[in-house]
Amino acid sequence: MRTFALFPTVVPALLALVGACSSPADEPDHLQQPALVRNYHQDAKAVLDRYCTGCHTEGGIAHFALSNYQSAQAYSSLIRGQVESGDMPPWPPSDEGVPLRYPRKMAAEDKQILLDWVKDGAQEGDKNAASRVTIAPPEQPLPPRADLVLDMGVTYSPNKSLTDDYRCFVIDPNPSGSGGMPEEAWVKAGVVKPGNQLIDHHVIVYQVNPGAAAAVKKKDADEAGPGYTCLGGPGTSSTSFLIGWAPGGVPIRLRDDEGMSIKKGSIFVMQVHYNVHNDNGKGDRTTVDLELTKTAPPYLVFQLPLANPEALKIPAGDPDAIQTVVAPVSFVLKQLKLPGNELTIQSVTPHMHLLGSQVSTLVGNRPLVHIPKWKFHWQQAYLLQEPYVAQGTENLILECHYNNSAENQPVIDGKKSPPKEVTWGEGTEDEMCLSFLGIRIKRPTP
Ligand code: HEC
Repeated sequence: MRTFALFPTVVPALLALVGACSSPADEPDHLQQPALVRNYHQDAKAVLDRYCTGCHTEGGIAHFALSNYQSAQAYSSLIRGQVESGDMPPWPPSDEGVPLRYPRKMAAEDKQILLDWVKDGAQEGDKNAASRVTIAPPEQPLPPRADLVLDMGVTYSPNKSLTDDYRCFVIDPNPSGSGGMPEEAWVKAGVVKPGNQLIDHHVIVYQVNPGAAAAVKKKDADEAGPGYTCLGGPGTSSTSFLIGWAPGGVPIRLRDDEGMSIKKGSIFVMQVHYNVHNDNGKGDRTTVDLELTKTAPPYLVFQLPLANPEALKIPAGDPDAIQTVVAPVSFVLKQLKLPGNELTIQSVTPHMHLLGSQVSTLVGNRPLVHIPKWKFHWQQAYLLQEPYVAQGTENLILECHYNNSAENQPVIDGKKSPPKEVTWGEGTEDEMCLSFLGIRIKRPTP
């Protein structure tokens, strides 16, 4: 079934919106090299430091370090399994899509060195021997400068009587002055720092236009406790999506010639979706760093959501239910009131919940980002290496797959729930088939 639709209101915004050894057996005897035995200090360490210790370090986001021999050795058989399956380092997109910035994927020869080290007995080797492996450092975005820090201001404890608590926190960057942004600015980079990853399901930061600031502040004042309840969105359409985070999210940095506009007088709403299933009672205080410039950039970026919520129906028991969303580029251009016959896409952020199994965002039959094994815990905005220009005659296509079989159900109180029909919804156990597209346009000159 092919359906087509965008969200009813297209929200302009931005984003925040991320040497095999040859087998001696095949060779004549006289060509045989003495077998190279891989060890930690000369071989594995360089590979682990290049691909793993960014997260697997003391105090890092992974629950164990791989930054010393003892620990690497203790985890060696798990390392083999994870590296062979491609689950670690986490990098869900396949090579079918277009080239992406800041990939975490391992080069095949580096993977082999690590696997050979495990196969050779995960030995330590000589600490003073020089490494036999040199690998270029990863391409990484410069960390965002914290020109503006958005802070909830309090530690919030989600409402335990709800499974999913959606809370909007109102943040005025200039509360003691006249209110709102003192002057117009553009976001260049940003990072969401989730305060408690056990309960934070997603964070979305909206810019609220100056005209809607008072109404949003009133919502906050009218409800007890910090912020206000906000299922779906901040409750006003006069907003733009600025930066988002979901599990696995990474800092965002736009190209040098791009920026996301923040108007003078605007305030911010930080929407946090709490899933209280794993609540440790410690509450959450999430902050967001934004790097700003006051110089107008040549190109503006905003987020276009591609989805057809009403049409999403995932039958109970279906191991491969599919939703395909199709939007003609010409229709999108008209909706966005954009001139010309081309739409330039600079990033792709697919989003599904727990039943999602694979997802692909395409232009015509060209996948931009294809994720063959969806993992809820590894989501991010993928910045395309080069902006992709879609023609007015083409279609934007999003194809989401779900596994709603009995085997793939959430475990609640130690028991697997029976499969049920699942539709679009904000709750973690509802589903979504959504892809944000970062759209790049020439900044209109006033
Ligand atoms: C971007 C961060 C990141 C990088 C890079 C990364 N890991 Fe992980 N790793 C994690 C997290 C977080 C977990 C916890 C499980 C999860 O969330 O998937 C994990 C879990 C693991 C596990 C345990 C899986 C289990 O069954 O408990 C192994 C083994 C592992 N990683 C090995 C590696 C190796 C080897 C590399 C490098 C080749 C690597 N990881 C790179 C973040 C990372």
